[in-house]
Amino acid sequence: MAARFPNLRWWHIPAGLLGTAFVIFWILVLSGQKTWFSEQPPLQIIPDMDDQFRVDPQEASRFFSDRRSFRTPPEGTVPRSGRAYPFGPGDLALAEKAFPQPPFPESPYVLAFGQNRYDAFCSPCHGPDGKGNGPVVQRGFVPPPDLTRPEARAYSDARIFHVISAGQNVMPSYATKLTEAERWAIVFYVRQLQRQSALQQQAASLSTVPARQ
Ligand code: HEC
Repeated sequence: MAARFPNLRWWHIPAGLLGTAFVIFWILVLSGQKTWFSEQPPLQIIPDMDDQFRVDPQEASRFFSDRRSFRTPPEGTVPRSGRAYPFGPGDLALAEKAFPQPPFPESPYVLAFGQNRYDAFCSPCHGPDGKGNGPVVQRGFVPPPDLTRPEARAYSDARIFHVISAGQNVMPSYATKLTEAERWAIVFYVRQLQRQSALQQQAASLSTVPARQ
């Protein structure tokens, strides 16, 4: 080897490796893979479709002068995917007449979907088990009534759907945030929480019965 490369010295090899690492480092920096030292967006040599004229959640809008991307919908408009809820909070009787039963039956999928929506939208206040002790309440919000108490167990499905859709006193309406199907799925899930709580109470009362001698 020494004969073929008479000028090669031992330190040429580590120097060559270091030089390669240096070049790779700058390629990474310039291509935006390494920008821990800069607040600026990385230099994009081939940006593909990374940056589009679209607003992502929490992103500032480049179109509106106040830079808010979350716009208040114009008065009286309804999302294309939805229908306006026709009743106000006081119209429980009308709602019970309009929805004598849920528009689709319960199924494992519906329950799982309802649980997913309930956990995201309701449990912050009502708690994961519906007892009314969610984290928002623990931080001082008005405690909602227990959704699993006997009185609430006796509510019609339409009544629970109506409260979600129209709101009740300090509880806001979720008609613009949840689709009708999502709201009905939540109703089924609230029913399941009520059944579970009833079973637990039953088990608790049985365990207090003294065992026979
Ligand atoms: C911001 C907190 C909050 C959120 C989120 C919330 N609620 Fe409520 N909810 C309340 C409060 C407070 C009440 C009691 C309102 C009143 O004083 O009449 C209530 C009342 C209710 C009632 C009536 C209970 C009764 O016995 O009168 C139902 C049913 C209900 N909520 C279901 C839900 C469902 C389902 C969700 C999720 C879509 C939800 N709530 C989301 C705070 C909340």
